[in-house]
Amino acid sequence: MQKLLSMKTPFIIERDAIIDYRGNLCFWENASYLPFEIARTYWIYDVPSGQFRGSHALKEQEEVIIALSGSFTVELENENFNDKFTLNRSNIGLYIPSMTWRSLHNFSTNSICLVLSSKSFSEDDYIRSYNEFKKLISIENI
Ligand code: TYD
Repeated sequence: MQKLLSMKTPFIIERDAIIDYRGNLCFWENASYLPFEIARTYWIYDVPSGQFRGSHALKEQEEVIIALSGSFTVELENENFNDKFTLNRSNIGLYIPSMTWRSLHNFSTNSICLVLSSKSFSEDDYIRSYNEFKKLISIENI
């Protein structure tokens, strides 16, 4: 039960980079580094200045977001969390639990947002209306 509750809270996962004079290396793999098995990865890039991405919640999917290059801000809200993170290092992942509204903005030029996801793509898993999301989390809390 304790684990389930803690998994409802976003958290930062830091990976050790392998520092090398030829250039640094960092990796993500299932095993012990992630709270779920990776089913899919996708990335967002060439985001024009001032644009927002995300602005939705996912019913079942969990994700880890990484700023592979550049920086951006991730705002998160769920029934017990409301905060924002600035991601700007490729060895840092931000874990996002299911049923968490996320909005990404302040993308720097040439930034790349890599997402590791626990499920294959399904539009049915998306909640794209903020009002519907708020209604659903208030029902879950009853
Ligand atoms: P969208 O959810 O709006 O992007 P984001 O929330 O990450 O800013 O997705 C844009 C389009 O891409 C939408 O039509 C769904 C489609 N899509 C896929 O086909 N497969 C995927 O893995 C993802 C993430 C999106």
